[in-house]
Amino acid sequence: MNSWLYVNILLFLYVIVTIGSQYTDTPPHIIFGVSGLFFILFNWTRHAFFSTIRKTTDRKKKIRLATISKRVYPFHRWSGSLALLLIVLHAMFILERYGIIWDSFKMISGMVAIIFLFLMVLTGWLRLYFPSVKKRKAHILFGFLLVFSVIFHTVFF
Ligand code: HEM
Ligand code: HEM
Repeated sequence: MNSWLYVNILLFLYVIVTIGSQYTDTPPHIIFGVSGLFFILFNWTRHAFFSTIRKTTDRKKKIRLATISKRVYPFHRWSGSLALLLIVLHAMFILERYGIIWDSFKMISGMVAIIFLFLMVLTGWLRLYFPSVKKRKAHILFGFLLVFSVIFHTVFF
């Protein structure tokens, strides 16, 4: 399987373990952040599946992965939109608790990530109703930018 699958799983486990060691009673802003992260990574796993389907020469594997992708497809648009809703709630709770802190890398990286998430959801809906090669490429590009900014937000800062 494509290495993105392992990156997704490791990132989620890393965040859960660090939170578990920090809080005994997890506050709502963290619960919304982690749930949003779960749905972002769930959707990003589509990239791991699609890349493997394109690259593998094993026909059985191709068919198995394509069947799983097809089953998940009806949920994709809703899990992506739900991720945005959860992250908006995460940001609202954060802003109420801390206000905007311009010299905090944690906050700036979060703001960058939510912009890419918004662009991801927007290009997703646009490509669903008005498909084009440009929108397909934009949906994948914003996906990479989103995942990298989320890694910065949760692992580095
Ligand atoms: C795609 C967007 C986002 C995702 C996936 C996300 C995810 C998370 C997660 C999982 C945590 C808890 C783990 C950790 O502390 O590293 C967290 C913490 C935090 N996030 Fe976000 N976040 C996003 C957007 C934002 C935005 C827009 C802001 C600012 C308005 C923000 C500000 C913060 C802050 C300040 C913390 C630390 C809270 C604390 O330690 O009490 N995040 N985020
Ligand atoms: C967290 C948000 C999202 C992420 C990370 C994400 C990720 C992905 C990925 C990796 C692919 C496969 C790209 C390829 O290789 O061609 C894809 C395809 C697609 N996405 Fe999204 N997406 C998100 C949200 C959405 C939303 C909200 C919609 C709304 C309709 C959407 C619609 C689509 C469509 C129509 C496709 C092509 C069909 C298919 O996958 O079979 N996406 N997305």
